[in-house]
Amino acid sequence: MNEPSLRRFETWDELTATAADAVVGALHAGLQAREEASLAVAGGRTPGDIYRRLSTQSLDWSRVVVTLTDERWIDPASPESNARLLGETLLQDRAASARFIPLNDPSAVSPEAAAAVADTALAAAPWPLDAVLLGMGDDGHIASLFPGNSALTIGLDPEALLRCIAVPAGEPAPPQPRLSLTLRALLDTRLLLLVIRGAGKLDALDRAREPDAAAPVATLLRQTGAPVSIFWAP
Ligand code: 6PG
Repeated sequence: MNEPSLRRFETWDELTATAADAVVGALHAGLQAREEASLAVAGGRTPGDIYRRLSTQSLDWSRVVVTLTDERWIDPASPESNARLLGETLLQDRAASARFIPLNDPSAVSPEAAAAVADTALAAAPWPLDAVLLGMGDDGHIASLFPGNSALTIGLDPEALLRCIAVPAGEPAPPQPRLSLTLRALLDTRLLLLVIRGAGKLDALDRAREPDAAAPVATLLRQTGAPVSIFWAP
């Protein structure tokens, strides 16, 4: 199996600069070839520094569609909202003119209804995406596809018809319902950058590379031919 490349950086700063350059390069290529370019990015605590770098890059952001790999089923004004994270980091400065497609619709009556709205909105975005920047948890979850969750049946099906699904709160995670891109959507991209930081996540990645690994990230790593690169820094 052609395992995705793992690039180890000496410092987080080097990783953030290289990751931002890789995403900008993919978006530039997309804009040269097509009317619009498209990008899906993770939430969480790790990628904010990369997004702040991206927001300052000289790019025709008005032709770039940005969405999330996943979102929490919470008020978009909540400090835990990934849409709020993007609003405070990526969708600033030069990137403020990008077209953002949220996954969470606060007017929706349920996570399932919000996922259906997002799936329809995402269908109108340019696919394949030009870049996906994905995170991973210590438990090997990617996006909001968590080990043992009932949403994995569709969420990890590379042939799934849906791009966005609702994820129920689970034991032990996620603590609240989520919205997540499916593996099918995450793989439908020209560049997939999995960005992880710290020893714990490197251990989780090593475990996921075992033949019998069951974590969601292991399913991603087994997708032969997928455009996955892994960046790690301490
Ligand atoms: C989220 C993210 C999630 C994240 C991992 C890692 O909504 O939390 O999209 O998939 O990438 O949980 O999170 P950290 O970067 O906070 O470790």
